[in-house]
Formats: sequence, structure tokens, C-alpha cells
Amino acid sequence: MEYNISILPQAERAVTDTKSIPFGKIPTEHMFIAEYKDGKWQQPRIVPFQDLTLSPLALCLHYGQTVFEGMKAFVMEDGTINIFRMQKHYERFCKSLDRMCMPQVPQTLFNEAMHQLLQLDSSWVPTEPDGSLYIRPFMIASEGRIGVKVADEYLFMIVCSPAYQYYANPLKVKVETQFVRAADGGTGGAKCGGNYGGAFYPTEMAKKEGFDQVLWTDAKNHEFIEESGTMNAMFYINNTLITPALSGTILDGVTRDSLLALAREEGIKVEERQIGITELAAAFEAGTRVEAFGAGTAAVIAPIEFITINGKTYNAYVGADAMMYHLKTALFNIRRGLAPDTHNWNYIVK
Ligand SMILES: Cc1ncc(COP(=O)(O)O)c(C=O)c1O
Repeated sequence: MEYNISILPQAERAVTDTKSIPFGKIPTEHMFIAEYKDGKWQQPRIVPFQDLTLSPLALCLHYGQTVFEGMKAFVMEDGTINIFRMQKHYERFCKSLDRMCMPQVPQTLFNEAMHQLLQLDSSWVPTEPDGSLYIRPFMIASEGRIGVKVADEYLFMIVCSPAYQYYANPLKVKVETQFVRAADGGTGGAKCGGNYGGAFYPTEMAKKEGFDQVLWTDAKNHEFIEESGTMNAMFYINNTLITPALSGTILDGVTRDSLLALAREEGIKVEERQIGITELAAAFEAGTRVEAFGAGTAAVIAPIEFITINGKTYNAYVGADAMMYHLKTALFNIRRGLAPDTHNWNYIVK
């Protein structure tokens, strides 16, 4: 083992009724933390979950040099703990760090930290079918200095929190044609904090109008669908699963990637391409059955029932025989060990 992670265990806290608590409110007992200083990662350790001490000059607080990931662990049929697609999440973390001029976390350090933390807090992984442990690896620029610069010091941490169903009901979304999430050449493809802060205002405006979420469109002409909140946008129209191609302005979603692979395996026609909002409106106008859904780690598959395009609201199909539910079950079965993991997506902790 290249990195010697010290562990300071915490007296086990009783796992309370985590199901009734909003997503992300309750941390597990432990967290991982390592410091980047003098060009290397130092003192990797697992400690009881605790507050940080940070200089008010810390660069992350002023210039947004922060990157995060979000993945989930599940209890398998045989009782083992499975971190789903840890490798792909790690690779995306590396890409985001690169885009934000932040130091890479070596694969060995990442894997070892994840493994040991999950082992220690394994009793926090919910066993219910709709439960999982949400894992949040993240990095912040911790160097205390108020000048605008790339930081020389960072903290890499991992925290976890039990998670259940994200949205209780099918969504009502608005196709956003005024505000923009990301433009060509920007940071849209990176999972950096600023992308989310910048999305709050338009999303709050949409919520005031009675929507759950916005469906972003491209920055140039607001012509093509991008993604939604913390989910990739997917459609199932005329027996074809359609999703925007990875153009650099949307996140390379792990759920998106998994669903596309499963669909292709089943012989479902898949198209990764631009989806025009006029094309979408035309399909609805023609009476075509349209399934629309968000795909992401937190919500898994979030059915969209109502889509408002340029002020006109359309009804998408959310019936029990919808293709999206079939794909969701296929994904569920792999993650829980109920179907073979032919893609090597599961990382078994113990
Ligand atoms: C902006 C954005 N798009 C899409 C996704 C879906 O990605 P994933 O399936 O990897 O969670 C997320 C969530 O991470 C996100 O934040």
C-alpha cells in the first residue's frame, strides 16, 4: 500500500431513522481527509466527522476552486457493500480537477480512502430497496491568500450520507430559454462548484413559477436541450433512446453512460445527438408517445411528466410500462447483485 491512512475511529453512533431526514443532512460517523502541501499529498487520515478549520482567506471561499463527485454504495443481495462505478467517477474527478487547475489525486490514494471509509461506516449503508449511501469525494483550495491565483494548498475529503428516493413524484420542468448553465469552452463538463451556484437563480425563478426543475438549452441560440439540474436529459421516442451528445457543456453522467450501455445491450436503438426543442415540441404536437426523464446518481431515473416549451405545456408518458422503468430495474439489479455485473461496474468493499 502506497499511502498509509491513519484511522481514528469514533464510538459507533446509533443509526437513527435516516429515511425521514432530507437528502444529505446526516453524515456518517467518519470522514476521510488529506492535505496537499509542498507538491504532495500528506497525512491521509480517517477521523470522526467534524467541522473544518479554514482561513477566511482560503482561496476556495473567494474564487470557487472546488470540485466534487457523487457516487453511491449499495448493499448487495449477499450482504456485501458495492460502490457503483467507482472507477468512472474517479476518472471524471480527475478531469474536473484538471479543468480547475487542481492537483490530481492518485488512484491508489482514492481507492484506499474509499475502501477504508466504506468499511468503517458500512453499517450506514441502507438496506431498503430505495436506499443507498451517497458518497461525496471533494477537493477545495485551502491556501489562505486573498490574491486571485491558482492555490498551492488543497484539502481532499470524502464524506457520506444515507440517501433514499430523491423525488417523490414525476417532475414538471421548464425548458429554459433565457438563462444559460454552460457555454462552449466553459466549465460545463466539469463537476465544479460554480456550475451549481450559477444555476440556482434560474432554477429558483422556475420553482416560483411552479416547476420542479429547468431543462437547460444551448448558450448560442437556446435551440437544443442540454441537461437538467443534477441530471442528464434522456428521451424515449419512436423506440429510440435519445440523449444529448457529450459536447463539453454537459456533464458526462455515469448514470447516462450506464443506461446507454444497458439499452444498447438490449438492442434498443440509441442516439447521442442534438435534440432540438422544436423537434421535441413537434413530437408532442403529433401525438407521439414521448418519455422524458432525468438520469443521475442522486435521483437515478426521475420521470418527467410535464414539459413546458416556450410557454406551452406538454404531457410526457409516465405509464408503468415505460421504457425508463425497465432500464431503471436493469440498473438496480446489477447494483444489488441480482444480475451479473458483466461490465465490471461493481467495486465490492467487503
Ligand atoms: C450537472 C449534472 N449533470 C448530470 C449529472 C448526472 O451524473 P451522474 O449520473 O454521474 O450522477 C449530475 C450529477 O452528478 C450533474 O450534477
